[in-house]
Amino acid sequence: MTEQADKPFLYVVVCAAGIAAGVSELITSAQERGWEVGVIATPVAMGGFFDSGAVQAQTGRPVRSAWRSPADPRPFPPPDAVVVAPATFNTVNKWAAGIADTLALGTLNEAAGLGIPIAVLPCVADALAAHPAYQDSLRRLRGMGVRFGDAYDGAPRPDGGRADFAWERALDLLPPR
Ligand SMILES: Cc1cc2nc3c(=O)[nH]c(=O)nc-3n(C[C@H](O)[C@H](O)[C@H](O)COP(=O)(O)O)c2cc1C
Repeated sequence: MTEQADKPFLYVVVCAAGIAAGVSELITSAQERGWEVGVIATPVAMGGFFDSGAVQAQTGRPVRSAWRSPADPRPFPPPDAVVVAPATFNTVNKWAAGIADTLALGTLNEAAGLGIPIAVLPCVADALAAHPAYQDSLRRLRGMGVRFGDAYDGAPRPDGGRADFAWERALDLLPPR
């Protein structure tokens, strides 16, 4: 795909939470705000949590999940900002601990170290969010400058629906360009 040098590049990191099925809403909003978007998904998220073919069509780029081979060129330009939506309990805790065993985590660790703006929308059940390790992870990542949206439990309501996931909030959390 031809690089659009005039547009800032946003990485959208997608984790394996049920709400990930709606990630196209975030991509649409980001594109409307002038971002070019590349999606990096965790390996578990690639297992049916969202429609990767639809996302590829929407972004015009392959969805990345695996590490490239050393000889291969980087498929995405460097990011101007990174959004993690949805962010799982697992990925938040591993990121805070400095683990980089997925491309998504490696990207997040590096972006934070480079001072690239990062906004995170967690989707974590209250029962998991109560774990002290998770609270420590949030504190640690906030201390690194990572910005978080409100807690979102993702639990079904009595009527079977779910509260809206505030996808656009991730974009609002990024500093103005
Ligand atoms: C249908 C389904 C929905 C899930 N939803 C969530 C969720 O909303 N939040 C979460 O933290 N984990 C959720 N999980 C568990 C994660 O998928 C699991 O912890 C996984 O290891 C996360 O991997 P990742 O962080 O690399 O994406 C869900 C699992 C399944 C099967």
